[in-house]
Amino acid sequence: MKAVILAGGSGTRLYPVTQNVNKHLLPIYNKPMIYYPISLAMLIGIRDIIFVITPQDEEIYRKLFVHLGKIGLKVDYVIQEKPRGLAEGLILVREKVKKEPIFYLLGDNILFGHGLSEILKEAKQFVEEKKGAYVFGYYVPDPERFGVVEFDKEGKVLSIEEKPKKPKSNYAIIGIYFFDERATDFALEVKPSKRGELEITSVLEEYLKEQTLRVKLLGRGFAWFDAGTHESFLEAGEFVYTIEKKTGLMIGCIEEIAYRNGWINADTLLSIAKVMSKTYYGEYLLSLVSKRCLG
Ligand code: TTP
Repeated sequence: MKAVILAGGSGTRLYPVTQNVNKHLLPIYNKPMIYYPISLAMLIGIRDIIFVITPQDEEIYRKLFVHLGKIGLKVDYVIQEKPRGLAEGLILVREKVKKEPIFYLLGDNILFGHGLSEILKEAKQFVEEKKGAYVFGYYVPDPERFGVVEFDKEGKVLSIEEKPKKPKSNYAIIGIYFFDERATDFALEVKPSKRGELEITSVLEEYLKEQTLRVKLLGRGFAWFDAGTHESFLEAGEFVYTIEKKTGLMIGCIEEIAYRNGWINADTLLSIAKVMSKTYYGEYLLSLVSKRCLG
């Protein structure tokens, strides 16, 4: 399975911050926002990642990709000329993923919780073996801002609606999706919505029609942020700061995951740590090698 991470868009909800800077490279506490979705793919053993980026950010992303290559990832990218919607990413990567299932992530979504890797691995296995799409629902007080899922007592999905005026539930579908290999075909058929975008909910509706859409609700033990507004951006940073400070373990540290997965050796980790020696991030990487960190 390949991962596809959406790092395009226009970031207007973060203006003026993102008028000249790509949102996904901004720091959520001590690391770039994009490290968090990258780390989710790595946690479930995915090394192949395709990024969807804007034409103006190509150069800066190439620099990031060099680093990702060093930690054992196989990186590729496609350019999205205009932010035409989340489903367009599926069309753009169609040739590159061929007939394979996809782990599809929004570059500004941050998810953390106990046992998350296991839940993601289950979803991956489900889509690989049983086909269909697998998404996650998260309780929010303001569902009208999101794609909303309605379900019955047995957890069967009844409907999904994009930013509904009258939401049928308080569960938002978060920006982390598993699709079988047909998603790129479904995306080709999607027509622009009223707001002129190719909506990911239209792709999910195709799976819903054939009853192969599965939703897992994430309960109290999970924290999810769409870090695309000033407030949520700050909240996400504060959250990461608090958890890391309390536990002494990092969230979204891609070099650590690469090392623990056996994709890089201690020498490579040390050389990366050296460059960051003025930061706690660098010290943390060093501590992994000297085995002071047991988490
Ligand atoms: P959004 O947050 O919906 O859009 P945006 O990033 O353009 O921000 P804003 O609403 O503030 O203008 O996008 C969700 C994620 O998907 C985000 O990480 C950017 C990415 N994205 C793309 O890569 N291509 C797109 O066409 C769109 C709409 C978003």
